[in-house]
Amino acid sequence: MRWLENSPERYDAGMNFLTLGSVGKLHAAVASAAAVTPGDRVLEIGCGTGSVTALLIARGARVTAIDQAPEMLEQAQRRLAPDASVEWLEQTASEMDRLPEHAFDSVVICLCLSDMSTSERAFVLREAALRLAPGGCLVAADEVRAAGRGQRLAQLLWRGPQAALGWLLVGSLSQPLANLVGDIRQAGLCVSHEETWLSGTLALVVAEAAP
Ligand SMILES: C[S@@+](CC[C@H](N)C(=O)[O-])C[C@H]1O[C@@H](n2cnc3c(N)ncnc32)[C@H](O)[C@@H]1O
Repeated sequence: MRWLENSPERYDAGMNFLTLGSVGKLHAAVASAAAVTPGDRVLEIGCGTGSVTALLIARGARVTAIDQAPEMLEQAQRRLAPDASVEWLEQTASEMDRLPEHAFDSVVICLCLSDMSTSERAFVLREAALRLAPGGCLVAADEVRAAGRGQRLAQLLWRGPQAALGWLLVGSLSQPLANLVGDIRQAGLCVSHEETWLSGTLALVVAEAAP
């Protein structure tokens, strides 16, 4: 949703509208799937305005939150108390290889992979897998291409005009992912859970490092 990301102060309300009110539930499901226990280290990629970050912190996580957009990070910082247990990093996910390996109990990435090119997504998922501590899990949620023909047509009718608007406003698009589970497996992770939302147009996937 690149065009919404250009107005961080309207981002949350915009996403709520575009997902017909589902985004809050998706965020809560992502934070819950990360199975955080107090003190766990969580790496969040593309934290945006910090909705998931706040839920992770509330569960006792120590979060390292990456985002490439300073305006989104500012909104996120406003949402959380200054002494919250979070390290904000203004960087792209492609620079993740600077972070220590096997250092995080969970890696969370919500509505961010669809902003990336195919090659960046593959790189980021591989690097995310490397950042997991033994027994850790990746939680990824994103917009995906609906499976059924009717659902796909509805998705096209709902998302097509937004994509056109996005292209006109910021010259770029985020695209529903064609194969989120396949992309995660390609990074060497074992998928343990998958659920879909909003008529199959949003997916949440949990995966662990291969034994
Ligand atoms: C659609 S928003 C989602 C924000 C948040 N995760 C949520 O669920 O509300 C995507 C966020 O990912 C960030 N982002 C997109 N591509 C990125 C990249 N390659 N590296 C770092 N951040 C990125 C954007 O700046 C934006 O804040």
